[in-house]
Amino acid sequence: MAEILKVENLHVHFETSAGQVKALNGVSFVQEEDQIFCLVGESGAGKSTLALAIMGLLPQNASVPAGRVLFDGVDLLRAGTGHLRRIRGKEISLVFQDAQAALNPVQTVGSQLEEVILAHQDIPTRVATTMCLEILRELGLPEPQRIMKEYPFSLSGGMCQRVMLAIALVLRPRLLIADEATSGLDVTLQAEILERLKSLCKDLHSAILLITHDMGIVAHMADEVGVLYAGTLAESAEVIPLFKEPRHPYTWALLQALPRLDDVDKKLAPLPGVPPDMINLPEQCPFLPRCQKATAKCRLDRRPFLEDIGSGHRVACYNPVLALD
Ligand SMILES: Nc1ncnc2c1ncn2[C@@H]1O[C@H](COP(=O)(O)OP(=O)(O)OP(=O)(O)O)[C@@H](O)[C@H]1O
Ligand SMILES: [Mg+2]
Repeated sequence: MAEILKVENLHVHFETSAGQVKALNGVSFVQEEDQIFCLVGESGAGKSTLALAIMGLLPQNASVPAGRVLFDGVDLLRAGTGHLRRIRGKEISLVFQDAQAALNPVQTVGSQLEEVILAHQDIPTRVATTMCLEILRELGLPEPQRIMKEYPFSLSGGMCQRVMLAIALVLRPRLLIADEATSGLDVTLQAEILERLKSLCKDLHSAILLITHDMGIVAHMADEVGVLYAGTLAESAEVIPLFKEPRHPYTWALLQALPRLDDVDKKLAPLPGVPPDMINLPEQCPFLPRCQKATAKCRLDRRPFLEDIGSGHRVACYNPVLALD
């Protein structure tokens, strides 16, 4: 498969009154065409920072001391605003959790959708309207004609989320970044929207970078998975090897915490301990204080880097979990 996005050694810091938050500390991965890459991690791991960095939407207090974000070979971190404007919404689009807040409250759904199309394509409004109706229908919105005339406040959270996805997908972007895009919705609705998203993106040949903290969603959606911990990838692999043979103790612990179909009485155990302070990150492995497999090397050495242990399965650990552990 062809490579569409390549993130290389990405570092992002935020200046705050309390000190410098080291949100991303050398993240590297490749997203391929037509692929669903799930980025999973706890709150504060740096997932949204990564999404914003790719889109060139980092806030004022952010800096990027190192790294590249290559899209079609162009480094988006150093691209001009004109280039970014052409790419955003057309080649790469972003959807996040709070759809109701992202939509313009005083503009109808239809005009917001049409606006996106007409900003990038010189076509008659009539054609744009047809495109809108089609994408709304494909995302499972009943009566798209009526929805087009509605204002966001009169729609439910689930409908707003579908409208946001419609806006993000109407131009058939090559990459959709969905940052917790369905998190606020109830589980059944979430599953339905994700299912539609998956099949629609396959039809449109759009790749998805799906950001979530939910391993259940990862299992259902991912082709490839990256496990982010304290601003670095702890592990990345294809979905089946990752679930069957997790190598990083953090991934292993996350999977242990999942309820299992064959063990329905097992309670969801929260992971003991807390993530590190991102202002005073240790030199050693950031997972060290919570790790059950830590050795003397882990306590003494600088943090391990992500290494390929075969077939593209990468792990950043001096003492990875073995199948028989
Ligand atoms: N604008 C900002 N200024 C200062 N610190 C920030 C800013 N945005 C994020 N951070 C910090 O950067 C780190 C990563 O935040 P980020 O929002 O990327 O995490 P996340 O993985 O998306 O978490 P969540 O699951 O809660 O959405 C956190 O420590 C966060 O407090
Ligand atoms: Mg986030």
